[in-house]
Amino acid sequence: MTEALKIGIAGLGTVGAGVIKLLQANAAHVAARANRPIVVTAVSARDRHRERGIDLGGFAWVDNAPDLAARADVDAVVELIGGSDGPALALARATLGAGKSFVTANKAMIAHHAMELAERAEAMNAALKFEAAVAGGIPVIKGMREGLAANAISQVAGILNGTSNYILSVMEREGAAFAKVLADAQALGYAEADPTFDVDGIDAAHKLSILASLAFGARPLFEGVTTAGIREILAADIDYARVLGYRIKLVGAARLVDGKLLQRVHPCLVPMAHPLAHVMDSTNAVLAEGNFVGRVLFEGRGAGEGPTASAVVADLIDIARGEFGPPLAMPVSALMPLEAADPLAPSERVYIRLTVADRPGVLAEVTAILRDFAVSVESVIQRGAAPEGGVYFVLTTHRTPEGGAWRAQPDQRPRQYAGPAAHDANPGELICRSQGRPTSRRPACSTAFWCSRWSA
Ligand SMILES: NC(=O)c1ccc[n+]([C@@H]2O[C@H](COP(=O)([O-])OP(=O)(O)OC[C@H]3O[C@@H](n4cnc5c(N)ncnc54)[C@H](OP(=O)(O)O)[C@@H]3O)[C@@H](O)[C@H]2O)c1
Repeated sequence: MTEALKIGIAGLGTVGAGVIKLLQANAAHVAARANRPIVVTAVSARDRHRERGIDLGGFAWVDNAPDLAARADVDAVVELIGGSDGPALALARATLGAGKSFVTANKAMIAHHAMELAERAEAMNAALKFEAAVAGGIPVIKGMREGLAANAISQVAGILNGTSNYILSVMEREGAAFAKVLADAQALGYAEADPTFDVDGIDAAHKLSILASLAFGARPLFEGVTTAGIREILAADIDYARVLGYRIKLVGAARLVDGKLLQRVHPCLVPMAHPLAHVMDSTNAVLAEGNFVGRVLFEGRGAGEGPTASAVVADLIDIARGEFGPPLAMPVSALMPLEAADPLAPSERVYIRLTVADRPGVLAEVTAILRDFAVSVESVIQRGAAPEGGVYFVLTTHRTPEGGAWRAQPDQRPRQYAGPAAHDANPGELICRSQGRPTSRRPACSTAFWCSRWSA
């Protein structure tokens, strides 16, 4: 066996502690796979005296994380601090600038800075690895970069955020409201005190932009991901979806549309028979369609100490073996600079829940508006009083022309979905696209929620 790979770890929280535990518990196994031992020599975190359930006695302590990069006893650095910029980015730049290899679980940083960091890594012939950044323990980065490398990928889609999938699963099982399930999950430590990134789809958008880059040989385009989260979903929506034969999931999906990159994270009604409908609780899954391999599904635990450490150490084993290629699967210079596709452009089948006044003629008003805009209704459910007054009116549409891009209460939509004409619309309006121009009419509906139905 050759000399050990000496690593420095910055961040000793859930994942950092997990990596140290794994390297200790599986030391012989890892050394056999890597053909050399992998040893931790130096660590950094904020609080030197915090109890972490691991013995740090044998490691040098470094107060300023970026200083790990210059140490003679560090060959490769593992960044497990988090955050798209700040100390994590400073450490990445310092490590790659020193020509040393860099491993991270930090999807936010990779989503925002992949191009710059990959360029640095390539220039210095150093590794930049981030298996743990997408879907935790599932080897989906390796799967996309290597396993599916021979295929033209037509679509990559998945359930990329365990917290939101857990919340939707509990809402379904218990018939409970989003706010209650979120509060319980926070009390149990399953959700962050600030859940924005998870429940509003931003975390999934970070991961999707990384996957899409690998799938389509394109520069990562995080700014091009349109995002809608799960806050507006009611337990009643989950129940209506079930009656219609679907389960509501927060799906991240990317594909090419007329040579542009369509990337969306949004609630989606997934048919019960589809494999993504069966991904429950905090499990993640990624589905890719290749032109020779067909459909491939990766599924497993997308977060947590063990799964995430497993992915980090897999990257270290590759580095110890000297097996690493361009970080984004192709040299940065060969990545396509794709533009973002208009998220409203593709035709879609949608699910709509309206709260309408409980008086004769309202349903006819709604369906008349749909008729006028050539939106063809597939099914209708009118059942159940809404707690805020009125009744729920639920319908699903066939594929609609002009992207099915009609919606109600656009001022409450996440900003990314609001088309230019939606900004001056009023609450309660239904917005339809007609010949590419959004047009609105106002029936007696007070609130509304709409989302796509899976159509691949
Ligand atoms: N948790 C998961 O399941 C999971 C899954 C996939 C990816 N990730 C990613 O992995 C990364 C780490 O996540 P985590 O859950 O392990 O976070 P965490 O438990 O909050 O731990 C963060 C660690 O970073 C340290 N830290 C903060 N600021 C620092 C600084 N300026 N210099 C040095 N250390 C600093 C903290 O030090 P103290 O302990 O002293 O406060 C802590 O040890 C994030 O990028 C996250 O997105 C996490």
